[in-house]
Amino acid sequence: MNDKLLVAQALATYLDGALSVDDITNLLETPKKSALGDLAFPAFSLAKTLRQAPNQIAADLAEKISPENFEKVVAMGPYLNFFLDKSATVSAVLAEILRDGENYTTQAQNGENIAIDMSSPNIAKPFSIGHLRSTVIGDSLAKIYQKIGYNPIKINHLGDWGKQFGMLIVAYKKYGDEVAIRKNPIAELLKLYVQINTESADDPTIDIEAREWFLKLENGDTEALELWQWFRDESLVEFDRIYTELGVVFDSMNGEAFYNDKMDEIVAILDEKGLLTESNGATVVELEGFENPALIKKSDGATLYITRDLSAALYRKRTYKFAKSLYVVGNEQSGHFKQLKAVLKKMGYDWADDIFHVPFGLVTKDGKKLSTRKGNVILLEPTIDEAVKRAQAQIEAKNPDLANKAAVAHAVGVGAIKFYDLKNERLNGYDFNLEEMVSFEGETGPYVQYAHARIQSILRKADFKPENAITGSLIVTDDESWAIIKLLQAFDNVVARAARTFEPSAIAKYAINLAQAFNKYYAHTRILDDNDEKNARLALAYATGVVLKESLRLLGVDAPVEM
Ligand code: ARG
Repeated sequence: MNDKLLVAQALATYLDGALSVDDITNLLETPKKSALGDLAFPAFSLAKTLRQAPNQIAADLAEKISPENFEKVVAMGPYLNFFLDKSATVSAVLAEILRDGENYTTQAQNGENIAIDMSSPNIAKPFSIGHLRSTVIGDSLAKIYQKIGYNPIKINHLGDWGKQFGMLIVAYKKYGDEVAIRKNPIAELLKLYVQINTESADDPTIDIEAREWFLKLENGDTEALELWQWFRDESLVEFDRIYTELGVVFDSMNGEAFYNDKMDEIVAILDEKGLLTESNGATVVELEGFENPALIKKSDGATLYITRDLSAALYRKRTYKFAKSLYVVGNEQSGHFKQLKAVLKKMGYDWADDIFHVPFGLVTKDGKKLSTRKGNVILLEPTIDEAVKRAQAQIEAKNPDLANKAAVAHAVGVGAIKFYDLKNERLNGYDFNLEEMVSFEGETGPYVQYAHARIQSILRKADFKPENAITGSLIVTDDESWAIIKLLQAFDNVVARAARTFEPSAIAKYAINLAQAFNKYYAHTRILDDNDEKNARLALAYATGVVLKESLRLLGVDAPVEM
């Protein structure tokens, strides 16, 4: 059981309902120095109810509480400090992990859906590092929420509609080469797109033509639709290859175009509620406290990004009856999501409060902003290949006889990229440094994977079986193992915090700490020596392995058993 809960439950029985177990759990603090105990309860919080001085309350409680589960319970000024009974704690934690394995701290299904808008690249354009961040963060949040009982629904809101398709069709009709596009769709389509945009700077007719084509597209013109469908299909083949490499799957691929026949309804509801006004021929919703109104329809009747997002929000609420709805999208779109929520609120939808924009920061390369036009780009597929190659080289040097090198190198290379992204707090951008990412040293994915693989090798040597170990003694006494136990015990708090703050980084940092704690233990201790504590030491190694693997899984990173 988690240490806070243990203390809170013990304390609650002495408080006659003055504070609930939950209240106490939230109040408990961790003392700065472990010599001051494992957890401290601030008695200030009872002073009002009990009409007593905090110091007195702490002293009285220290007297009353039976130290059954604790080594001791001591009043220190206005605090009541709990020292966990180490051997009882060690045995309890190890037994729980030996019993539950990877289901350690997994919560039962709560029947609630969480919609996660993630990845959402734009058709006919390259899959950017921003889309990679969205994919990796979204996928991790899905796994984290699943662990705490939710049913995640991963939605790829493809950018497959908009005026840019008008541009693309004009470009294709002017100088498109079908064969070249079939061979290398995204690169060729991007070329067309860049070329036509450059040209339109000098030639205003292009813009007019593009608008016309887009309007044709919106009105269901066959030629326009066929071209659009073709560009979309070709792009998806390329995106699918990336998703396969990353091991990410979606529950819905409904992109922007999916809402084409659903926007009339949104406009009608807005109209009925009297929220629409006209501004320079365009239809808008005025928003108090915003610089600009929400633009719902342009003067030529074309719909906009936010119109489609309004439809999508309503569709998701109806279809999934979500308890929460997340949008994992770069921080530069925060204005858009504020508007989206504000409009939904004005429409009277209270569930707008369950919508969360989960923003993230920018990735740089060599300290510079990425820019397709300036040639400072990171192309995803060659980058993944390079990461796998680097991983392979290191494995070749460390463990040349490894059986399935290619598969392990793939797990390490891809895992390295994901882990590096996720260990940063979302809003902090980072510099894309492949060498650092794939290093086996430092705060990296491979470092954590390596600690996990090392543990598996120890367990193989000992022919370890959790079901046998659980019947033996589970007491270890050294300080290094106590540090590990405290971390293992904190796992469910870390997962809960990662979920609450939409921060997979909490889990990545935790995994690094746990791997470091284990490596320290391993350096000090002969785990396989035959003596009284051998069973418990192996159980500790096993438990660490389970939690490292589960942490990596929550980040979407594989944990090879050997590397
Ligand atoms: N396609 C957009 C982009 O690349 C992201 C879409 C995010 N999702 C949404 N529902 N707006 O910028």
